[in-house]
Amino acid sequence: MRADTVLHNAKVYTKGEVLDAGIAIKNGRIIEVAKEAHLPVAEDYIDLNGCLALPGLIDVHVHLRDQLQAYKEDFRTGTAAAVVGGITSVLDMPNNQPITMDSSSLRERILLAQQVVVANVGFYSAFSQKTDEIEEVAREGAIAFKVYLTSQVGDLDIDDDEALLHAFNAASRLGVPVAVHAEDRKIIKSIADHEQTLGHETSDAYQKAHTPEAETKAVARILRITRNSSAHIHFCHISSSQALTLIQKAAKSGSRVSCEVTPHHLLLTSQGFKQQGNLLLTDPPVRSRKTMIELWEAVKARQIDIIASDHAPHSIDEKMVDSVWNVKPGIPGLETLLPLLLTKVNEGWFSVNDVVRLTAENPAKIFHLNQNGFLRKDYDANITVVDMRRKSKIDASHFYSKAKYSPFDKWDVKGVPIKTFVNGKLVMDEGEVIAKGVAGKILSPANSN
Ligand code: NCD
Ligand code: ZN
Ligand code: ZN
Ligand code: ZN
Repeated sequence: MRADTVLHNAKVYTKGEVLDAGIAIKNGRIIEVAKEAHLPVAEDYIDLNGCLALPGLIDVHVHLRDQLQAYKEDFRTGTAAAVVGGITSVLDMPNNQPITMDSSSLRERILLAQQVVVANVGFYSAFSQKTDEIEEVAREGAIAFKVYLTSQVGDLDIDDDEALLHAFNAASRLGVPVAVHAEDRKIIKSIADHEQTLGHETSDAYQKAHTPEAETKAVARILRITRNSSAHIHFCHISSSQALTLIQKAAKSGSRVSCEVTPHHLLLTSQGFKQQGNLLLTDPPVRSRKTMIELWEAVKARQIDIIASDHAPHSIDEKMVDSVWNVKPGIPGLETLLPLLLTKVNEGWFSVNDVVRLTAENPAKIFHLNQNGFLRKDYDANITVVDMRRKSKIDASHFYSKAKYSPFDKWDVKGVPIKTFVNGKLVMDEGEVIAKGVAGKILSPANSN
């Protein structure tokens, strides 16, 4: 069989090893990963100059916005930012305007996205109160559900344990995982109210309210609710070792749980508020140096399943307001995640294998993204080529994201994505998006658990 494209002169990450090999692609799929002599002839050859080809990254925590919040980000700019960052698939969060929470809101989002995306996109849905809507939105193509315990997103009452269990069990019957933003809103509100009456308006006051205890309490509550359920719970952006300990214990006693951390919680501390102010503000907030080190230890001990960006773009005006209580929390992360992680590989903090496991293999397994996450025959040709020796400087003013700021701005990195292939198509070359039309597809749920 003649291939469409052969990527040659490459180092290929496959089956846990780096091989001197090439990749043959046909109709958007990998048809062979082999030594060059064993590859089929192709219409087109692309020389990777000895660089490393990795499975395309899957970022499971992204806010693409669009629709009524297109001023913050839209499907085109968000997926362009993804491929520039070496990310070939993203999962879009449901806290949009309108909220993604039923089959009609999801359908509208899919219709818009499929006309413009450069990366593959899957969708989260918030929960409806109605079980038949939960079933319908899953049939419509939701990859996962999302519950925010900080504020009401969707119409499922987040203070009602029984209602939550009911929704989790419905998701479980459908074979769909449930992601949770775990922070106890009552703890946060009582401290925030107190801080506000004292007239405290800086990031310190915000951090005082968004405590590790608020996270731990919410994690404990969800684990208690799901103790005897087969629901698969995925904890988003975990930021404390106390919460991790609870998740570990639950996993050992048989609960189906997984968790993610973000690059900002692994690389930044609350010391940064002094220089960066509210630009650094995100929820949960970055914490102490001690916590940061504990999170790294958890990564190394394989207690963390996924690293995800929590790309949460806001307009600069929304970040630059005086009172911290009016700032929109969230920072863009699609264009910095991989260079930051590769820099840590070069510094010896962890290995390329760890990066691939945390950003491609586990995301594909946990969110049932079949034919993704691995460079293997018959898999979709989502491929990220990195130059491990290339040095660069992060420059937020050149982001493809509409959010042109970053707490990592001006950081030196070593190890950068140089080419991104989405479904066999070269969409990013040397930091530029070269795809003209649509290259990504809408990810649909696999019908297995
Ligand atoms: C997110 C957003 O802006 O949508 N903000 C954030 O601080 N992380 C919401 C969220 O992920 O909790
Ligand atoms: Zn060759
Ligand atoms: Zn969140
Ligand atoms: Zn988020």
